[in-house]
Amino acid sequence: MSMTATDGIEMPLVVKGPWTHQARMDAIDKECRQSFESYFTKAMKVRNWVPNELPIKEMHELGHKLSPDTVTMIQAFLGVEEYVGDYVQGGLELFHNNRVRRNLQLAWGMEELKHGWAWEMVLLHSEQRTETQLKEYIEEVLSHKWTMQENHPGLYSPLGVLCYAMVQERATYFNYEEMRKRIRQEYGLPEKASVEERKRGHQIGAAGAFQIVGRDEIAHHGIFLEMTRIHMRYLPDETLETLLKVFRGFTMPALDFIPDAAQLEEAMMRTKLHTPRKQVTDVNNPILDALGFDNKRALERGVQEAKKLPPGLGPEFVTLSRSGEFVLSTSA
Ligand SMILES: [Fe+2]
Ligand SMILES: [Fe+2]
Repeated sequence: MSMTATDGIEMPLVVKGPWTHQARMDAIDKECRQSFESYFTKAMKVRNWVPNELPIKEMHELGHKLSPDTVTMIQAFLGVEEYVGDYVQGGLELFHNNRVRRNLQLAWGMEELKHGWAWEMVLLHSEQRTETQLKEYIEEVLSHKWTMQENHPGLYSPLGVLCYAMVQERATYFNYEEMRKRIRQEYGLPEKASVEERKRGHQIGAAGAFQIVGRDEIAHHGIFLEMTRIHMRYLPDETLETLLKVFRGFTMPALDFIPDAAQLEEAMMRTKLHTPRKQVTDVNNPILDALGFDNKRALERGVQEAKKLPPGLGPEFVTLSRSGEFVLSTSA
């Protein structure tokens, strides 16, 4: 999925003004549907995979090379992914009367369910956890129920969930890419994939699993980013404000719920796989750039400037500059 800053800007307007709130919502719905349809087609035709096809034999052969910190982090990733039912449910309640967002939630959930399954397989076939240990771990994870309302207050709205998910997916992609590289190192392999790995389309053992799951995560980020851009054009005020809220208080979901939260934190500190600094440089900043902002200050300026936009002004007359200023024109 292409993620340049110009994506979406050139998309033709499919709904014309006058720009009442309802007209804006209709335009968002129409453009989001187009985006969802191409996302779904690609998910089904190109990105489809099943966990049982992961390179299990290689996981067996190389599993003993994984470090305790790596295993700790993979288990915590499993824990976070296993709340998939709660994540999907929270969204479905919000999207009851929104077909596009409901369908995206269903398709997204179907893909997400494979991720916990994949980490379970990595831990089991690397012989780092037994079936009984995994069963007990997952039971403990599922003894808690995650809700968006309680864990990310202020973001429980269709727009809040969208902006949060957009950032969360990119952070997850970053973590899984870092883990993929870490596993290659522990396996004793060069950073670059070999010719054979590239030929068959995925990397070796657990690194391959992280690569395949990572492709899902970046595609999820891509569709949520596209839909965020659509909302930015039609509802700049609300969308920029929501984005700023997400950037200011972003935390990964369910981190307080997983039984091994403390061990994960220690492993993260030791390995520096993900740090608050990396969240800014490798997650937040590329997202701001993709949304068309120079930096976080530009987004903050945009939030202030959006409040001053004349209410009836259509998106065809408004351009948002990279410094967060709106440039108005009288002709589309
Ligand atoms: Fe996932
Ligand atoms: Fe995801």
